[in-house]
Amino acid sequence: MQLLNDQAFMGKTVLITGGASGIGAQSALTFAQLGANIVLSDIDQEAGLATLSRIHEVGVQGIYINADVSDVDQVNTMFATAIDEFTHIDVVVNNAGVEYPPTPTHLTDDALFLKNVDVNIKGVWFCIKAALNMMLKQGGGQIINVASVAGLRSAPMISGYSATKHAVVGLTKSVAVEYARANIRVNAVCPSFIDTPMVQRTLAHMDEKGQRSIMGASPMKRLGKPQEIANAIVWLASDESSFMNGHCMTMDGGMLA
Ligand SMILES: NC(=O)c1ccc[n+]([C@@H]2O[C@H](COP(=O)([O-])OP(=O)(O)OC[C@H]3O[C@@H](n4cnc5c(N)ncnc54)[C@H](O)[C@@H]3O)[C@@H](O)[C@H]2O)c1
Repeated sequence: MQLLNDQAFMGKTVLITGGASGIGAQSALTFAQLGANIVLSDIDQEAGLATLSRIHEVGVQGIYINADVSDVDQVNTMFATAIDEFTHIDVVVNNAGVEYPPTPTHLTDDALFLKNVDVNIKGVWFCIKAALNMMLKQGGGQIINVASVAGLRSAPMISGYSATKHAVVGLTKSVAVEYARANIRVNAVCPSFIDTPMVQRTLAHMDEKGQRSIMGASPMKRLGKPQEIANAIVWLASDESSFMNGHCMTMDGGMLA
């Protein structure tokens, strides 16, 4: 059995959207520690450049591209820039996403739902299409989508977010089957509550009872750590998971068990 070692991604290039913060930033650093060159993309340039300098400290090559995944032109320019720089991209992690302050569905502002659709669905769609076009030309690759447990089950008070993450799960499965013969694998991670700036912002909107319900949602009675999700993303992108395709991996401390 081939074990993941600190050279597992040597010579490979990984593109990560929403890579400035949280799960995306931790995944970028983890890939870098395993030897990958990194294309880091986000809309938060200041945070993106700060994460990029941590990647450079690891000793790999990395570039930052400011790109809004909900804009198809920006996505296509991002891929073109990345290919110009590195000639091929082995792994694309569709991680960029936006949150959804818990609200009863009938009172939810349509603008919040539509923003979730723009980033969480359209953004993943545009990046999957660009990634497929590139991977078909280069003879293969790995796509990892960051969905959510809210894409696998009911999620009261965040129904609009849940709908977008169900879409990411659906895209993951269908695209995986469609391109399986083209040496392209497509998988997803489905985290529960992970201790990132996104969850900290969500907690800040809640009263103490709500906060307790989130902190205690997992049978392990804690939030997940970004590194725990990054570990799964890296493994799904590695040769060790070579027969895994169309899988949506629950990462929730047992919440859905
Ligand atoms: N934290 C959790 O509990 C949790 C649970 C399940 C799923 N997720 C998913 O994980 C992913 C990462 O979330 P996180 O918790 O690390 O959040 P985060 O807010 O820390 O990071 C998200 C990043 O995405 C970027 N982003 C937002 N809109 C963008 C856009 N239009 N184009 C490009 N980049 C954009 C943000 O600037 C930010 O850097 C998201 O898809 C989220 O839905 C998070």
